[in-house]
Amino acid sequence: MRGACACAVVCALVALCAAAGLDEATRAAAEKQLLTLLGMSRRPPPRNRPPPPVPRAMRLLYDERNAFPAAAANTARSFYHTATDLDDRFPGEHRFRLFFNISGVPTDEVARGADLTFQRAVGTTGKQRLLLYDVVRPGRRRHSEPILRLLDSIPLRPAEGTVTADALGAARRWLQEPKHNHGLLVRVIEEDSESKNAKFPHVRVRRRAMEEEEDWRAVQPLLMLYTEDERARMARERGEKRLTRNKRATQRKGHRAHHRRKEAREICQRRPLFVDFADVGWSDWIVAPHGYDAYYCQGDCPFPLADHLNGTNHAIVQTLVNSVNPAAVPKACCVPTQLSSISMLYMDEVNNVVLKNYQDMMVVGCGCR
Ligand SMILES: *[C@@H]1O[C@H](CO)[C@@H](O)[C@H](O)[C@H]1NC(C)=O
Ligand SMILES: *[C@@H]1O[C@H](CO)[C@@H](O)[C@H](O)[C@H]1NC(C)=O
Repeated sequence: MRGACACAVVCALVALCAAAGLDEATRAAAEKQLLTLLGMSRRPPPRNRPPPPVPRAMRLLYDERNAFPAAAANTARSFYHTATDLDDRFPGEHRFRLFFNISGVPTDEVARGADLTFQRAVGTTGKQRLLLYDVVRPGRRRHSEPILRLLDSIPLRPAEGTVTADALGAARRWLQEPKHNHGLLVRVIEEDSESKNAKFPHVRVRRRAMEEEEDWRAVQPLLMLYTEDERARMARERGEKRLTRNKRATQRKGHRAHHRRKEAREICQRRPLFVDFADVGWSDWIVAPHGYDAYYCQGDCPFPLADHLNGTNHAIVQTLVNSVNPAAVPKACCVPTQLSSISMLYMDEVNNVVLKNYQDMMVVGCGCR
């Protein structure tokens, strides 16, 4: 009965990992199902160039395995400024327009946080202030002034390594009205003399003429966008991460044939299953981890149902009825009763690095339901 009871994610993973014994159509279907569960419409196309380096901030976030620095977020995406002709209109270091193309963010994601981090320049001195504006409407030469909305105002002090400004207001707006993303305006002024352009080094905002691409990448402003996708939002709104019955019901078909009789006689318990992304053929776009312990639940739910089998009252009744009349109703199923999340770092279709926390990916406990 295991197939009838496997959870959606693990079920798709098992199918993929057993790819050797599957025909191409089934394998493709399993991959599609898994991608859907991961909130992606298709796998990123294979790359012929090496992937761009993972930003340090992103790598730290992944390594620390901490919660995202924005409540309710389950996804982190990083963006760099897209260079355009407009850059030439901002020749100074004290005033610059940054444009982040976030058009690839799926429409079901809601912005929960957006941190724009600047590296301090070498040789900072006096007191300055960084002002960050959302360009609500760009100005037109000799016609109209731009409409700017102040997002953040940050005092700059010497000896700081980085400065982080809050750009959430703008990111929210861009996700809602993508056509009206005109970028962010960064201004740096001398603090004690109101609205005077900064004269001394402060933060790095634009690439210098002789600067190598690689050197610039390490110090250029980085936008970290934290979002919550629909699946996570629904799970949060349900209040708990329990597996829904419907999800299981759709998985019932097609997996019964694989089970040997011997397995069925073992008691319901969690069993090891390591999913290696290389086996699945996904190692080119999943940066980390290389694989993970998914586990699965398998085994018999015999009458009388023991306490440690985490049965519901309903499962106890169903098992009882089955023991009296096996033809009337099957035994309860051995399914995951507690699941936990894992974090994955991957490249999206346009080579942006994404860190996502996927719920219900790893079995913690099994039970008869
Ligand atoms: C943003 O990126 C998308 C590809 O993801 C591209 O089609 C679009 O032209 C870009 N927009 C701008 C304004 O650069
Ligand atoms: C029942 O659930 C608990 C907590 O989730 C778990 O530790 C235990 O292993 C589960 N029982 C079985 C048979 O897996």
